[in-house]
Amino acid sequence: ALDKKVDALIASMTLEEKVGQMTEVTLDVVSKTGAATQKMDDAKLKEAIEKYHVGSILNVSGAAYEREHWHEIISTIQTAALKDRLKIPVIYGIDAIHGVTYTVGSTLFPQEIAMAATFNKELAHKAGEITAYETRASYIPWNYSPVLDLGRNALWPRIYETFGEDPFVVKTMGAAMIKGYQGNDIGDKYHVAACMKHYLGYSAPLSGKDRTPAWIPDRYMREYFLPSFAEAVKAGAKTVMINSGEINGTPVHSSKYLLTDVLRGELKFDGIAVSDWRDIQYLFTRHHVASSQKEAVMIAVNAGVDMSMVPYEYSFFDYLVQLVHEGKVPMWRVNQAVHRILKVKYELGLFERPVGNPSDYPKFGSEEFRASSVQAAREAITLLKNNNNVLPLKKNLKVLVTGPTANTMRSLNGGWSYTWQGDVSDKFAANKNTILEAIQKKVGNDNVTYQEGSKFDTLTNVEETIKAAKKSDVIVLCLGELSYTENVGNIDDLNLPDAQIQLATELAKTGKPVILVLAEGRPRIVTKAESLSAATVMTYLSGNEGGDALADILFGDVNPSGKLPITYPRYTNALVNYYRKNLENGNSDDSHGYNPLYEFGFGLSYTTFRYGNLHVSTPALKDGQTLKITVDVTNSGQREGKESVLLYISQQYASIAPDTKRLRGFDKISLKPGETQTVSFNITPADLAFINDQSKSVTEAGEFKIQLGDQTQSFNYVSATVPSRTGKL
Ligand code: IFM
Repeated sequence: ALDKKVDALIASMTLEEKVGQMTEVTLDVVSKTGAATQKMDDAKLKEAIEKYHVGSILNVSGAAYEREHWHEIISTIQTAALKDRLKIPVIYGIDAIHGVTYTVGSTLFPQEIAMAATFNKELAHKAGEITAYETRASYIPWNYSPVLDLGRNALWPRIYETFGEDPFVVKTMGAAMIKGYQGNDIGDKYHVAACMKHYLGYSAPLSGKDRTPAWIPDRYMREYFLPSFAEAVKAGAKTVMINSGEINGTPVHSSKYLLTDVLRGELKFDGIAVSDWRDIQYLFTRHHVASSQKEAVMIAVNAGVDMSMVPYEYSFFDYLVQLVHEGKVPMWRVNQAVHRILKVKYELGLFERPVGNPSDYPKFGSEEFRASSVQAAREAITLLKNNNNVLPLKKNLKVLVTGPTANTMRSLNGGWSYTWQGDVSDKFAANKNTILEAIQKKVGNDNVTYQEGSKFDTLTNVEETIKAAKKSDVIVLCLGELSYTENVGNIDDLNLPDAQIQLATELAKTGKPVILVLAEGRPRIVTKAESLSAATVMTYLSGNEGGDALADILFGDVNPSGKLPITYPRYTNALVNYYRKNLENGNSDDSHGYNPLYEFGFGLSYTTFRYGNLHVSTPALKDGQTLKITVDVTNSGQREGKESVLLYISQQYASIAPDTKRLRGFDKISLKPGETQTVSFNITPADLAFINDQSKSVTEAGEFKIQLGDQTQSFNYVSATVPSRTGKL
């Protein structure tokens, strides 16, 4: 019925009105220039709506607004839109990537990389739900999140926006978050349309620099990069944003294969495909696959782009109208794109309720919401090393807090909240605690000394810092990165800047125990500094509550339970992922083995867990059957703790060299001392599939090895149709 309603509306539209729906301008285009707080420009808005019938607006620049201000902006836009002939509301979109980073008083969560470290799908779902609520409370119905790219190149500046390197984690956490964003009904005023991004293969630029070319064979693309998007489509994601980059020389915005054959044909996605920022224009000016802007529009729309984000001063509009008149873009293609856009607008309830009601959102920025962010930060922070149980620290120790990430919210929240879209003036984190403030709050100012020691790349007051260290019992050394968004975070060297390593070296010479805290968006190389620490804690970018959560962990009020969702490399020239081939494992006659600083899935606790009784329901899994795997996990230590139970299954022999380890399931449990819980996983033959040399998903019969904690077990998949590879002739 909705499709018919949409078609009826399309039948009444002029070509210009249709193309307007495909046009998404940034807020600046309809705002006054130079105003301290963004104010709408009535004349520009009138032009956008009346002349170009603009269907979508996005973004906010360099600020976080009060809710009232958002109400004014969105009301002004919708009032203008509803004056147009067909009264079609505008769909406003924004990046609420770890909470609503553009509204004062919102709830900011850990970034995706930290959410992944929780290995807690319910938390990802909850974070999605709360962010959707607060996005709607800011009168915005469309969120450009989650990032479903695989964080597999440690250099890439957007690693922190991903759920890490593992395809199973990315697809599971991604789908949970999408369900949180969208709920059962995106029109119920508390949910939003999610946006899967960035389709496809955005995270693997060869150089590690954002938006530089990637080379990804089709088989590899389907094995590692596609599953998270396939799962997100199944979860009902309403929109997708396209990868700005080029793969194997083809910019994705021009790829009919990826945008239409795979996305629509294979994945059966029927929502909106929006371009990324100016990316249609860039087919001409950057990629040089179009020899003019007009040709770029033709290629992109014909390939499957439905909406042009930042349509370069409306020339997208003019060119597309011309191209349809010239028969170079068929009208059916325009109708198809507009159908997808209008359908989502209806589903979001924008026709009945173009602007939300301010009083409908009493929970915005509430204590209840904050509690979820606190839990997420506590479950994310990952203890990587704890020599002689130096942690947890006693609260009466004299602590020196030092290092460039010790006293800034930017190194806790990361990008988007503190770069071009967010609030550089700290407005929304005003009452939040940096690491230093949280430690002071925890153990009292008298027990804490602070010295900066170093900025991100230059030493500052090292001598004073050393003096202070000598007078302290323990040093909390906070290293890492300042926030960055997209290409602002490009680096030439994964090593943490020398100054920070030097500070660690000098402090270690004092003989006082160094607790190394890493607040960073990607795993910078810290091998030397790390070798000097007594304990190492990874905070990732754990959000507004990250400082307090860290203090809770350092001083033992919370037991850490995060595990690394990425491999932490030891050397800059040995960047590896855990799902490696047997050839990369290293053996007696091959010293070029796998030797990361910390493995994917690694993380310590203040208690210990013992795994036992690994059991499989059958030693020979057949077609149509489900294998039930159970394992008993016991808290064998002295205090209550949470454990992420990670199930790895690897095929021993296959027609494509199998990965030595592949995650196929995870669960998070909480155990009191002495308590045992049985954790179970159900695995079907389809869960064991891989992409073969024909680019087809297959499960080959043969032997599989299970690894759960220190327990291992084998089983066979026995198929009537697929011959087995046993390794024997
Ligand atoms: O959603 C983002 C995307 O991730 C990167 N370019 C800009 C978009 C809109 O802000």
